[in-house]
Amino acid sequence: MKHLLDINNLTAEEINQIYTRASEFEKGIRKSNHLNAHVATMFFENSTRTKMSFEMAINKLNANKYDFCADTSSLNKGEDLYDTINNLCAIGINAIVMRHSDNNLIKELASKKYYQDISFINAGSGTNSHPTQALLDFYTIKKHFLTLSNITLTIVGDIAHSRVAMSNIALLKKFNVKIRCLAPENLIGEKIEGVEYHTNLKEAFNEADIIMALRIQKERIQEHIDIESYIKNYQITKDNLPYAAFLMHPGPINKNIEIASDVLEMQNARTILHQAKNGVFVRMAILDMLLSAQGL
Ligand code: NCD
Repeated sequence: MKHLLDINNLTAEEINQIYTRASEFEKGIRKSNHLNAHVATMFFENSTRTKMSFEMAINKLNANKYDFCADTSSLNKGEDLYDTINNLCAIGINAIVMRHSDNNLIKELASKKYYQDISFINAGSGTNSHPTQALLDFYTIKKHFLTLSNITLTIVGDIAHSRVAMSNIALLKKFNVKIRCLAPENLIGEKIEGVEYHTNLKEAFNEADIIMALRIQKERIQEHIDIESYIKNYQITKDNLPYAAFLMHPGPINKNIEIASDVLEMQNARTILHQAKNGVFVRMAILDMLLSAQGL
């Protein structure tokens, strides 16, 4: 493995290897020292969990961390991103963790011949891919349910603009999870083969083992969204959440929009902070694999 760009580049076996390695980090039975590795984080979109857990992972691996801040960088003096990365390469950066609003940019960067010594890790690209989130969700689900066969998972919210939904669907399909998507017609997006689509909450929640809620990604939506009607028909409440369902959310949560705030006090919702915690181990596993492959 040279880069981590997209779930579609990983086999089920590689996903299980990442799971095992993350679990060893969590149990403290694997320790890694990457004292000669230099990892830069480049976030061009807002982030709390993803950025902080990548930083924590870099620190726990004893690698060196460099936070590239776009606002104070020479990008503001007119330098382009390609030259910027060329210079990071020259300085000695070995891996770049990048979040960007462009769906394809990170793949283009990773395919450039002159960056061949650098590993790129996708920390969220546009609306299409967020592989480390899907891997940490997989870790959280597998750790709890042990096996993924016979699981029914309902993703509810703004599926159309969610890279989290795209990557989770790509990953969970590989493990034969029964996936349902629930959203109003205008937030369903392009339909994916093998996924059930619903506009009715009752049907979509019926006998679901996991409910994964998503935020309405206002920053990516031009047209008017009727929030009142969304709340009325799709908000997760104490009344409609299946009794034993595992409630997941990648964060950030817009309380009282996608989930009623009292639901967050319920046992079912404890998973949400477990997802954040597990993100550190999963990101440690990914960085450890990529840095080791570079001999660092
Ligand atoms: C998500 C993202 O950035 O795609 N957040 C995250 O990484 N945990 C989801 C979102 O912003 O709604």
